[in-house]
Amino acid sequence: MTIRVDELNGAAVQSHLDALAQLLLDAHASGMALCLAAPLSRDGARAAYNTAAERLTPGERLLLAAFDGDELVGAVQLDRAEAGNGRHRAEVRRLVVRADRRGAGVGRALMEAIVEAARGLGLRLLWLSTHEGTDADRIYGRLGWSRAGVIPDYAELPTGELAANAFYFLRL
Ligand SMILES: CC(C)(COP(=O)(O)OP(=O)(O)OC[C@H]1O[C@@H](n2cnc3c(N)ncnc32)[C@H](O)[C@@H]1OP(=O)(O)O)[C@@H](O)C(=O)NCCC(=O)NCCS
Repeated sequence: MTIRVDELNGAAVQSHLDALAQLLLDAHASGMALCLAAPLSRDGARAAYNTAAERLTPGERLLLAAFDGDELVGAVQLDRAEAGNGRHRAEVRRLVVRADRRGAGVGRALMEAIVEAARGLGLRLLWLSTHEGTDADRIYGRLGWSRAGVIPDYAELPTGELAANAFYFLRL
């Protein structure tokens, strides 16, 4: 499969809302909450990307999507810090690949593209967090990110249990 990664504007996000929502439903099915409380409905997943679309701002908040031909198979977001003394850093959020396309390099392609976009904006530091002990917690190290540590009871899993989150950073 040949993967292309494109930055989407708000209108493009709206036009791919069903495919994007499916990514979040797949994530919840595999135990990853991606900042959304369970139970997550299809409408709730669409609403999450609708909100993301409204908030997209060039140079501040970006959404990249991975395509196999016309099919959207993954996405990732970047939120630049608003703090006056933190404008050099951004959070990488909501990396997600459709369940049937995992393990084939889509996640790596998205992460490489978001790092490239961050460099293009002159950012110096990226950070992210993920539930401790999950596949994602193993993948970021593989992608060259450093694991800063763990905060217990950080977020609710789709099961409703509180889970620790691991925090990662990448200096650019
Ligand atoms: C996490 C996720 C985005 C990774 O996407 P993916 O397309 O499966 O990842 P890739 O195939 O590009 O793999 C990336 C790297 O991690 C490695 N990897 C993949 N799955 C792995 C696993 N289960 N354990 C350890 N390493 C793994 C790959 O070998 C690859 O490294 P390499 O290129 O050096 O070989 C995807 O599994 C997913 O959507 N999971 C559910 C949502 C989620 O957890 N999102 C993260 C929220 S923080």
